[in-house]
Amino acid sequence: MDTRHILITGASSGIGKACADLLREGNRLSLGARRAERLPNLGAEGFRQELDVTDESSVESFLAASDAAQGPVDVLINNAGLARGTEQVANADGRAWREMIETNVLGVLNITRRVLPQMLDRGRGDIVMIGSVAGHEPYEGGSVYCASKHALRSITRAMRYEVLGSGVRVMSVDPGMVETEFSIVRFRGNEAAAGKVYDGTHPLSAQDVAECVQFAIDRPQHVNLDCIQIMPTDQASAKRVHRRDSRS
Ligand SMILES: NC(=O)c1ccc[n+]([C@@H]2O[C@H](COP(=O)([O-])OP(=O)(O)OC[C@H]3O[C@@H](n4cnc5c(N)ncnc54)[C@H](OP(=O)(O)O)[C@@H]3O)[C@@H](O)[C@H]2O)c1
Repeated sequence: MDTRHILITGASSGIGKACADLLREGNRLSLGARRAERLPNLGAEGFRQELDVTDESSVESFLAASDAAQGPVDVLINNAGLARGTEQVANADGRAWREMIETNVLGVLNITRRVLPQMLDRGRGDIVMIGSVAGHEPYEGGSVYCASKHALRSITRAMRYEVLGSGVRVMSVDPGMVETEFSIVRFRGNEAAAGKVYDGTHPLSAQDVAECVQFAIDRPQHVNLDCIQIMPTDQASAKRVHRRDSRS
């Protein structure tokens, strides 16, 4: 069987990096993120390059180079994303809102609109969105992050309708709390505040989520796993988390 060309955005950390580690065997990977030096080194088999999904010229040069190195994309994993801040609407200055919308919504579209036509022409291809519990329920202090993931969910659904009958699959893996650098980014580098998010609870690992991605893309062609929602056992909703005195 031919190997698949799998393109992963945001592969320098967390879930994207775990997807790269899990999928490198038997596939041809293209990995992108702004901190290119942190992208896993896959040797001669893999392609990696700096990528800022919010920058159209960065996306274009990344895709041109990845196509030259690995050929057309078989699987696109739209993972790059972030939450910035926990301010409520009344207390925010608005700068982080633009960053989240530009990354989590427009960034996904910037890549997807350039990769999808080739998939439609070939009559096959997988697009996997990394959504979130935040795309299913909003919470205070997360208005715009939640809005961005709700938008992603709508885009995913609309695309599922748009590609129906083409052979292209559109899927979403929507996790609850995952212990990655996500909270450090959200708390603007404050590691103590970020650590508190996971205090006394057993969060998902990035690998738990990557395994769902792997499962989804490894289903037979006639199966489209529309949405996988995955939560820690200790978490029942965005804000309903069971905490013990110490991590078990
Ligand atoms: N952790 C959670 O609890 C959780 C829960 C639900 C959903 N998610 C979602 O999971 C995805 C991955 O997050 P994570 O938890 O793995 O966090 P992470 O460890 O902070 O990783 C985020 C990745 O996104 C990349 N990224 C951010 N902005 C980018 C840009 N403009 N262009 C290219 N890459 C960019 C980062 O790379 P560079 O900084 O090097 O560019 C990094 O590789 C995100 O979409 C997030 O919303 C996370």
